[in-house]
Amino acid sequence: MLDRIHAIADKLAPRLIEIRHHLHSQPELSGQEYQTAAYITGVLSSCGLKAQELVGKTGVVAELPGVDAAADYLAIRTDMDALPILERAEVEFISQKPGVMHACGHDIHTTVGLGTAMVLAALETPLPGPVRFLFQPAEETAQGARWMIGDGVMTGVAAILGVHVYPSIPGGTIGIRYGALTAAADDLEIEIVGESGHGARPHEAVDAIWIAAQVITTLQQSISRTQNPLHPVVLTIGQIQGGRAPNVIADHVRLIGTVRSLHPDTRTALPGWIEAIVAATCQPYGAKYKVKYRPGVPSVQNDPALTQLTAACAEAAWGNDRVQLILEPSLGAEDFSLYLDHAPGTMFRLGVGFPDRTNPPLHHPQFQANEDAIVTGVVTLAYSAYRYWQQRG
Ligand code: NI
Repeated sequence: MLDRIHAIADKLAPRLIEIRHHLHSQPELSGQEYQTAAYITGVLSSCGLKAQELVGKTGVVAELPGVDAAADYLAIRTDMDALPILERAEVEFISQKPGVMHACGHDIHTTVGLGTAMVLAALETPLPGPVRFLFQPAEETAQGARWMIGDGVMTGVAAILGVHVYPSIPGGTIGIRYGALTAAADDLEIEIVGESGHGARPHEAVDAIWIAAQVITTLQQSISRTQNPLHPVVLTIGQIQGGRAPNVIADHVRLIGTVRSLHPDTRTALPGWIEAIVAATCQPYGAKYKVKYRPGVPSVQNDPALTQLTAACAEAAWGNDRVQLILEPSLGAEDFSLYLDHAPGTMFRLGVGFPDRTNPPLHHPQFQANEDAIVTGVVTLAYSAYRYWQQRG
């Protein structure tokens, strides 16, 4: 079966490159992927797959039936949105939409998802069980997975596979990670309310700016003394708002930031820990406070058995040298984790680096992806889907 999958994927390769160039040149922002969705539907129907558009707002879902009509689905998720970046990569198929760019490789993901569907649909014997392809919008804004799940795409799904490009490993290699792949990312907003006064008479006021400075410093210092150093926490205040004039003591400050963590227990404890520090800092000086901790997306926790399955399939397809264990998780976020609340799953990294030059990171205006990765991703996913169903027998 692996030889057959390789043969079909190799034959499809030029078409897949064309698809990728089209998607790259016509990027669309999160939640606005209408043309992308229509294009995906067109490609799927050209290989006999019926797709449903407008699932999860601008997403697309397609299903490939298996022999056992009653079996639950294996889902394969790829994302399709671009970023508000003016592309400066020197490629012939550069973005035709100024200020919008596929700088996170979601054009590669969509192509790999389409290629996997095309390969599996072209097999002479159907898979033992069905596969559901999820083309998800709005990953960059961490909204799309919620929209898709809200429209029921995880109903009847037994397991889910995902893929993300990775420029720091060479094109055509697969990165495997057991356990935590990405971090939980939550939003934090702290309001500190003091009392205004003359800048020369601090004893008659409650200085919200000075207290805010204490809050930031205490939070950062106490991470190192109160949080388990083996369960990382990154707390970044990215915005401060407050104050009206140089000689007026500020009565109101807003601190806005992001909180990243890897361990689910740490994440559960974070809102209480932050609130306790803010309270203990404000109270002695008579300031009032409000802490808003909004959960964003959880950490992607790769399922051990499914991770082993994709690793074994990648090794069988490409040899051990093209499969790397990823030793460190990322503190970036990925809303693939939301699907994992409904079924076990795994996401692997697809190398898109060029071995002979420096590779700008994801979200960089000069980011480029090595297209060798497309066939690598397609064969790995298609063979993983086959083996998944074969193992379940
Ligand atoms: Ni991405």
